[in-house]
Formats: sequence, structure tokens, C-alpha cells
Amino acid sequence: MAATAQRRKLLILENDRALRRQLEAVFSDLEVTACEASAETLGIVRRTEPDVVLFDLGTARKPSLASESLELLRRILTLAPDIKVIAMTEHNARELAVAAIGLGAADFYHKPLDAGVLSIVVRRAFRMRELEEENWRLREETGAMALEGIIGVSDSMRSLGRAIEKVAPTNATVLLLGDSGTGKELLARALHRLSERSRGPFVAINCAAIPDTLLESELFGYEKGAFTGASRSTPGKLESANGGTVFLDEIGEMPAPLQAKLLRVLQERTVEHIGGRTPIALDVRILSATNRNLDALIGDGTFRPDLFYRISEVTIRVPPLRARQGDSLLLAQFLLTEMSQRFGKPTRGLAPDAIRAIQMHRWPGNVRELENRIKGAVIMAEGAVVTAGDLGLQDPGEDPEFLNLRAARQRAEAQAARQALAVAKGNLSRAAELLGVSRPTLYDLMEKHGLEAAHYSRHAPPEAAGEAEPPPEPEPPAQPPPKSIER
Ligand SMILES: Nc1ncnc2c1ncn2[C@@H]1O[C@H](COP(=O)(O)OP(=O)(O)OP(=O)(O)O)[C@@H](O)[C@H]1O
Ligand SMILES: [Mg+2]
Repeated sequence: MAATAQRRKLLILENDRALRRQLEAVFSDLEVTACEASAETLGIVRRTEPDVVLFDLGTARKPSLASESLELLRRILTLAPDIKVIAMTEHNARELAVAAIGLGAADFYHKPLDAGVLSIVVRRAFRMRELEEENWRLREETGAMALEGIIGVSDSMRSLGRAIEKVAPTNATVLLLGDSGTGKELLARALHRLSERSRGPFVAINCAAIPDTLLESELFGYEKGAFTGASRSTPGKLESANGGTVFLDEIGEMPAPLQAKLLRVLQERTVEHIGGRTPIALDVRILSATNRNLDALIGDGTFRPDLFYRISEVTIRVPPLRARQGDSLLLAQFLLTEMSQRFGKPTRGLAPDAIRAIQMHRWPGNVRELENRIKGAVIMAEGAVVTAGDLGLQDPGEDPEFLNLRAARQRAEAQAARQALAVAKGNLSRAAELLGVSRPTLYDLMEKHGLEAAHYSRHAPPEAAGEAEPPPEPEPPAQPPPKSIER
């Protein structure tokens, strides 16, 4: 793989200068950094971002040196757990090598130096790293493909995507819970598409849209003459989904007598037409969805708990759009392109006020509301770009906090400094090392963000140290008060 070959970076930590030279020569085809193991090492790891570290742990005859080396190894792997570290030891230092592997080193090598053998060990470590990266990349790619048509970059949508992928190949019943317009049906269809039943039918039944009396015949089918108007025998939706998936939408609205009947069908895996006597074998997977609070419905006796357990072997909660950081804008852009094509209107971008408005709006109708607003805007908008007004939204005004990169940077900087101080328990050298900055830079940071080392020190008085609680985050300077954005 050419791209990976370009980035093959090896860090050699060797205190013996002559040996260091020798090792550099052995690996001259790689991008090598070679130095002593020291207090600077973590900073070097951070800067050079090696794939593999060849680390001479020193000699077991000097236990203090060995334990120092192990501590450094631990820190390297805490900082960058993906790095493959090869622990190099004296030939008689088996225990040291074992300890290094225990800490997470990928491999070990016993001296004396044999360039051929060491070369194999090092190259194997690079290969290991490459395979891991490739694996990760493939997972990302297939993940993106599998949930085609479902837009979202927020953490909650990513983990939801993973949940769908995991449950899809099983035959488990899945209950999708979420507010109206969050994408429950879209996800149910994706689940079916990813399942082994994807070649079979996907039959959606909206329990709220069909009158109670018709719902029964829709679901179960009927025989000729079963009721007035039943002029010929008709299959129900359940059996027409045989070999595939049934999606029971708005299941919270299903009337009690039908709940009992559906439960029996699910238990016996057969269905009988209304007015018929012959059981028909049923091989369907049941997915259901509701925006109702089923616990409450069970509590007041409107929903059967036994049916609930049957249909919810796995429950997936679909978050509201306002809780999906970054998704609203991405969806807006995607929908804008789609609608522009659909209505044959030239693609227009979003004006800055529309971007602000989209991010600030609470989206009570979720993706469906966004879809409708964009559709309306594409049809109605006169100008070259879609404005907040075209979307029927108010411009929240200039310079809202979320577009202020400087403020975001400052907050991230303060947070990193606080975390480093907390981990280092107020030890400034250690905190600077963790952050990969010099001590003077750390002082500047602390002054800028009003941080005091004593607050993080183990010996600080309890009220200052606050046990595990770091002191409250100071507001970044010169900022407007944060608007109430829940994302
Ligand atoms: N993540 C998404 N990416 C792209 N389109 C989406 C996404 N989520 C929802 N949509 C679109 O938004 C609309 C509403 O989605 P869907 O019908 O699946 O919601 P729902 O949760 O079933 O809503 P309701 O409870 O009102 O039935 C659909 O047109 C769907 O294609
Ligand atoms: Mg729906």
C-alpha cells in the first residue's frame, strides 16, 4: 500500500550512541528518528507520530533504569495506544520483556543485535499497524455504504448506525422509539436492507392510519363471506410479508383486541384468515416503531406488557434532531440538493443567515420538519440562495457562539490544560509534557485561563482540590453569553 509506505515512521529509543547509529543504518529505508529515552521522549512521540517504536529498555542489572523505562513505555502507550512498541532487552532479561508485553508492547527483541532478525521483527510490527489501519478504514467505508441514504455525522447517529448494523443480521424483533419525524421508518427499512431477508418483502403497516375494524382484516386477511363485502378470499399483510419483514408503525395505537391476536400470531408463528380455519405458517421478522411512551401505555393498561416484551427484544432509541450535533446543517445541505433536483430548480446554497437559523432552531418536527421547510424554500425562493426567511425561520443574529472559531479554540485549549493538570496532579513539568508544550507555554496558558496548579495538586486543601471535581470552567473572555442551544 503506497500511502502507508510513505508514512512508515520508526522511532528508536536507544541510550547507547554507537548502537543508535548502527540501528539507524539498519533502518535507513524508513523515516527514522533516533534519540535517547528521556523526559523529552513523549514530546518527540507527539511531534513525530511514529507507527513503530523500537525501545531499548536498558539492562535488568540496573533495576532503577528498567523501572524508569517501563514507566516511560506505559506513558507512550497511554499517549498513543495504537503505536507498536518493540521492547528491546538484554538476552537474560526475560522478566523485563514480559513486563513490557504486559504493559501493551507489541513484541520484544533480545540482544545482541542481529540486523536480519531485528529487521523482521520491526517490519512485522509495521505490518500489524498497517493491517489495523486497513481494517479500521474498511469498517468506516462499509459502515458508510451500509447505511446509505441515512445522513448523520453526530456521535449519536454513528452509534445508532452501528447498533442497526449489529442487530440487522439477527432475527431479533426491534422496537424503534423516537419522536415524530426522527427517521424511524427510514431506519427500519435500512435494517431490513441489511438483513438476510433483504430479498424478501418489506411490508409497512401504519396502525394509526387504518380504522380499527379494517386493521384486523388488513393484518390477518379474510375468507370469502367472512363479513359483508368480503367478496373473495384475501391474504393479510402479515402473510404477504412471508420471507421478509413486517414494520408495525405506530404500534402504540393498536387496539387491545388486536394486540391479543397479534401476540398469539407471534407466539405460534402462524396466522389465520378472518372466517378461516387453516393456520398459515408465518416466517416474518417484526420491526415496530412508536413515538408514544409505551411504559405509560402499559401503566394505564392500554398496551399489553407481554406483547411489549415480544416486540422489543432489542430497543433502539432514535434521538431528536436537536440532539444530533452537526447533523441539521448536513441534512439541510443534502436535502437542498435532493429537492433542487426533484423540482428541477437550480441548486442553490444556503445563505449565512439560513445556516445560523438551521443550527439554532429546535426542530420540534425533526427531519420531516427540515425536509418540509427545505422543500418549501426550493419551490418558493426567488433569490440565488435560500435565506432564513425562505425557510420560515428567524435569523438568530450575527456572530452566534457556534460560529466563533476563536472561542471554540480557547475553550478546547482551556479544557486540555485543565485535563493535563488534573492528570499530572498539578505537577507542571508533567502537565507540560502531556500537552506537548514547554513549561513557559504552560504558564502562559494557565494565566490566560485563570488556572492554578495548586487546585490540582494532591496536597491541596480539599475545598480547593474538590477531590475529583476540577474547578468550574471560566468563561472564555470577550464572549457573548452562550445562547441556549441544546444539540
Ligand atoms: N438521517 C436521515 N437522513 C436522511 N433523511 C432522513 C433521515 N432521517 C429522516 N429522514 C427523512 O425524514 C422523513 C421522516 O422520516 P421517517 O418517516 O422515517 O420518520 P419517523 O420517525 O417514522 O416519523 P413518524 O413518527 O412521524 O412516522 C423521511 O422523508 C425520511 O426519509
Ligand atoms: Mg413513521
